[in-house]
Amino acid sequence: MRVATLAREDDFDGWRGLARALALDETPPDQVVWQVGDEISDLLGSAAPAAEPKKDYAFSVPRPFIDLARSVVYHRDRARFALLYAMLVRLRRRPELIQDQTDPALRRLEGMAKEVRRDIHKMRAFLRFRELAEPDGGTRYVAWFEPEHHIVRANAGFFVDRFASMRWSILTPELSLHWDGATLREGPGASRADAPEGDPVEDVWKTYYASIFNPARVKIGAMLKEMPRKYWKNMPETALVPELIAGAQAREAKMVATSRNDVATNAEAAWAALREEAKGCRRCPLFKDATQTVFGEGPLDGAIMFVGEQPGDQEDLAGKPFVGPAGQLFDEALEKAGIDRARAYVTNAVKHFKYEQRGKRRIHSKPNAGEIQACRWWYAQERELIRPTMTVALGATAARQMLGKAVTIAGTRGQPHRLEDGGEGWVTVHPSFLLRLPDREAAAVEYERFVEDLKRVKERIEEMS
Ligand code: URA
Repeated sequence: MRVATLAREDDFDGWRGLARALALDETPPDQVVWQVGDEISDLLGSAAPAAEPKKDYAFSVPRPFIDLARSVVYHRDRARFALLYAMLVRLRRRPELIQDQTDPALRRLEGMAKEVRRDIHKMRAFLRFRELAEPDGGTRYVAWFEPEHHIVRANAGFFVDRFASMRWSILTPELSLHWDGATLREGPGASRADAPEGDPVEDVWKTYYASIFNPARVKIGAMLKEMPRKYWKNMPETALVPELIAGAQAREAKMVATSRNDVATNAEAAWAALREEAKGCRRCPLFKDATQTVFGEGPLDGAIMFVGEQPGDQEDLAGKPFVGPAGQLFDEALEKAGIDRARAYVTNAVKHFKYEQRGKRRIHSKPNAGEIQACRWWYAQERELIRPTMTVALGATAARQMLGKAVTIAGTRGQPHRLEDGGEGWVTVHPSFLLRLPDREAAAVEYERFVEDLKRVKERIEEMS
């Protein structure tokens, strides 16, 4: 028996190193006991510790498994490390297993990863800060949160980015995070009583989330559907909820029954508010020369989101995505692939037209990394609302926005990508690329490939629904 000891509950790097070392030694999964700290080694007495991982080992597993394992490690199920190791051993023999949607062990792991992603999302959506005066006269914003899984550390970067200029602390039962505007410090777990009482700081919240969450605040049905009860007590808008539902089971049942409509109505209102706000966007300098912000459009419950690069000349004038020549080619290809554009949400990675003026003509100019990053906020808000099952990135700029890093089309095309929010992403070429190809034969071949990509997306959506 070997004992594999991890430093912390969310020790993904530790798990990966030990799992690799154990697998290279051909250690069977049933011969390994996984523990966090030294919780069980005393019981096992003479069991040998698992080997230290070596730096120079040669090892390869499918990339999607690493992404899956990273999420599963944060799950609270104590069997997660052993389940992942057993899957790793099987994948070394049969890498294609990672595609096998019928494999029960893989499905179990994917279910766990989904629960973790949902928990990560809940922490982002339902955490609320309260104000605390600091001895130096400054303000610290403190929030209490009880996650289901070991996700706090994994979520830290999100809060640092969103609330970079504030001093804040997030207290949870296992771990606390403290940000002073420059460095992030970890502290021990806390209790609810350690967090200040009183009203959450609505303004802070509103600045970042108003478009998404304000409408939901007056819709109890939507809250019931979207928000687990345990978060209610943290949130100002839910102060009324216990009263409203106390002893009113019938009303609660009715609210849940109608919550589907409420969520749809709220989503529409939130989307409209978001688009309104985007009209005044000054996050990067592109607003200066463009006619207007071109926001995404389409049904908010659409399963597919298409992401283009940025509006072109005609889109900039019309205020709608993909209505010019590239849009017409896109429409034709969609029709050939059997996808109804009216049922998809279509947006762009960057929402202002970037161009160079040459005489009377406005010549498209590629958005740079900073502009793509600046527009990520709007893209993320659109995703929050739509939660597409499938996202199709048209071209490298869209792929960069979707995957959060610079990629090539050749390296990412033709395979599913697991996205941060749990959706599936595909990458294909941009229709403008097809329009620019000088050789007609080559253009015809590339057009067919594009249609094939879209057909594959359609099949995937059908498989998934
Ligand atoms: N190209 C894009 O990427 N988006 C549009 O909306 C139009 C052209």
